[in-house]
Amino acid sequence: MSKKGFIFDLDGVIVDTAKYHFLAWQRLAKGLDIDFTEEENEQLKGVSRVRSLEKILAWGNKTISQELFNELMGKKNEEYLSFIAEMDQNEILPDVPRVLNLLKEMDQPISLGSASKNARTILERVNLRSNFNAIVDGNDVSKAKPDPEVFLIAAKQINIAPKDCIVFEDSVAGVTAANSANMISIGIGSKDVLGHATYVFSDFTEISDDFIKSLIEN
Ligand code: G6P
Ligand code: MG
Repeated sequence: MSKKGFIFDLDGVIVDTAKYHFLAWQRLAKGLDIDFTEEENEQLKGVSRVRSLEKILAWGNKTISQELFNELMGKKNEEYLSFIAEMDQNEILPDVPRVLNLLKEMDQPISLGSASKNARTILERVNLRSNFNAIVDGNDVSKAKPDPEVFLIAAKQINIAPKDCIVFEDSVAGVTAANSANMISIGIGSKDVLGHATYVFSDFTEISDDFIKSLIEN
């Protein structure tokens, strides 16, 4: 059987952590007297922690010292980690385990390709760590999505050429990164937002076993 490389983003693809990022950023923004909306939070999907805080400060027209910046980054993450600590398998998004199991049955290599520095902790919390042959996350990259670095490293780690890799992504920046890496991109979310992906599905319940098999065979 031919082999393809399957690369999964984490936040918004495997688990819905956007709500926790939102709560933590919102509290931080409030402390700085900045209004922070759910629409703005959408724009932080796939965006690194540093860049997220830079964007929030820009929206609120605030400049702060480097020292305070670092302190706020630490605080945000502490709060986010307190939410993650409560996570369990119930937070895995619908049908993700079915697709992961099918890929395993078909002996296809699987990697994580996430911007998060908390990816390993989250995978352990939801008990999916052992489903991945490789994990590439925010600790392993120097350039954030939309740069393709994270996916190119993932492809290398599972030993599959980029053109034979398939990326599951929920963010605009992530789909752009997959396309720049010359990979097939599968957007998870709305067609209006992820129209630049090779395929778009609203969630994994829409992705049939036959579709996955056709990706492997073609
Ligand atoms: C993902 C999320 C972003 C988050 C980034 C960094 O891409 O979609 O909202 O800012 O990871 O996550 P971290 O856990 O390292 O703060
Ligand atoms: Mg994501």
